[in-house]
Amino acid sequence: MNLSVELAGVILKHPIYNASGPLCTTPQDLEGLANSQSSAVLTKSCTILPREGNPTPRYADFEGGSINSMGLPNLGVDTYLKILPSIKVPGKPVFVSSSGMSFEDQVEIVTRLSMSAELQAIELNLSCPNLVGKPQIGYDFDQSQKLIHAASKVCKHPLGVKLPPYFDFSHFQSMADILNEADIQYITCINSPGNGLVIDAETETTLIRPKNGFGGIGGPIIKPFGLSNVCKFRELLDPGIQIVGVGGIETGMDVFEYILAGADAVQVGTAYMQQGPEIFERLVRELTQVMTRKGYASLSQFRGKLKVA
Ligand code: DHB
Repeated sequence: MNLSVELAGVILKHPIYNASGPLCTTPQDLEGLANSQSSAVLTKSCTILPREGNPTPRYADFEGGSINSMGLPNLGVDTYLKILPSIKVPGKPVFVSSSGMSFEDQVEIVTRLSMSAELQAIELNLSCPNLVGKPQIGYDFDQSQKLIHAASKVCKHPLGVKLPPYFDFSHFQSMADILNEADIQYITCINSPGNGLVIDAETETTLIRPKNGFGGIGGPIIKPFGLSNVCKFRELLDPGIQIVGVGGIETGMDVFEYILAGADAVQVGTAYMQQGPEIFERLVRELTQVMTRKGYASLSQFRGKLKVA
């Protein structure tokens, strides 16, 4: 069984790695990923300066998914650059997510990351939903175009763009037009749909504290939108732009569905948060079992081959 994929020119042993967000902030988190069966290590989105993030409680599970409003707690780009050599494992690429607090910060972070040979790709995050007073850039097409253009000009590594979910075909088309003109290698979709609200009816309280309880939603409840975004972008993007699918993956069958919808690789967020680094071994085993049962020997035999009923 051949599960390997080439993503942005980087070889992955199999298509499953962690989403930026849960358990990828501290050196311990990153070592856990380096020693796991995740096919790559992706860091928490970094800013120029370290951040504590939002007040707690800021993450909670609920039936069907998770809600978070972390507020970008991270160690700052320069600390990640220092840590990277210590999480290097042969055959396992390291990707860094960048999420500056301003246009200028984003370009500066990509510039600093570009000077390091210790990372293999940069994921430019256009879609953090949890910063008070800051709209998600991915919903502002003009700003997105300018930022992707500026970042790609300074970027010396393969560049991916992390997108928010879109829900309207005209928005998919607007973003695809921008991406097809940009110098990027892949997109990652979807980030958590922003500003959900989950309530504990017994205590009549929100599950999380920041932003009066509003937060990004993850887990199985968002999978239909992750799949639709992967599928629609695969239809609209030039074949040279690859797609990493994320949203609600809990089983090997979920991974299979994402690849069927057109994903080149996938990331796991909420389920990794809940189950820890052991989850990657199970997902690889389950994906292998699904492919064996269906008679597929490689991912390319079914990638993007979704049939319409
Ligand atoms: C955070 C959440 C996100 O969905 C994201 O893309 C970046 C940061 C956060 O709240 O930390």
